[in-house]
Amino acid sequence: MTVLSKAKELVLPLPVALVTCRAKEKDTSTDNIVPLAWVGIVEYSPPMVDIVIGKGKYSERVISNRKEFGLCIATVDMMEKVDRCGLVHGDKVDKFKMTGFTKLEATKIDVSLIKECPISLECIVKDTIPVETHKIFIAEVVCTHVDERFIGESGEIKAEEMNILCYGNGSYWMLGKKLEKLFYTKE
Ligand SMILES: Cc1cc2nc3c(=O)[nH]c(=O)nc-3n(C[C@H](O)[C@H](O)[C@H](O)COP(=O)(O)O)c2cc1C
Repeated sequence: MTVLSKAKELVLPLPVALVTCRAKEKDTSTDNIVPLAWVGIVEYSPPMVDIVIGKGKYSERVISNRKEFGLCIATVDMMEKVDRCGLVHGDKVDKFKMTGFTKLEATKIDVSLIKECPISLECIVKDTIPVETHKIFIAEVVCTHVDERFIGESGEIKAEEMNILCYGNGSYWMLGKKLEKLFYTKE
């Protein structure tokens, strides 16, 4: 093994999420999209996630203020739009208009979700933790949307058919194939 001269946060792959937020209450013209890869799960019951955004970024300010966001999982065919959203800022560019993504109004929070995403979570911020240059938002998932095309006959979620987009080590990735089920080695 080589020990790198500088420690690096090499956790990969990560999902690519399109996080949505709304700057002004009930004003859909202030909807924004920010692609984020520093995203994770922090609790099972109640379901909770975390997202990490650079301090001072437009969406960091909006989410700090409004305390809610949509977390929409991106797919491989969205890669170019995802990349473009990561190069511009919501206070200058309407990213829904720029990408042509369809707005799907959330049911429990005042935010637009993205209809084209196979999974969208409605999230309410419960805690924020500032670190050096970023802010961690810890949020409860209050509603989960899954595109019905990916729900099987017995209600199972067919994630292997979603073609989810991933990020790692400075590049985009796609998943290979589903292997065994979790804990398949249990006797
Ligand atoms: C695939 C991808 C992943 C990204 N992940 C993060 C992230 O986890 N945290 C972050 O602060 N910025 C991340 N960015 C950069 C932001 O998306 C970018 O700074 C964006 O322009 C901020 O938008 P806003 O100004 O509308 O808030 C990522 C960009 C891309 C394309």
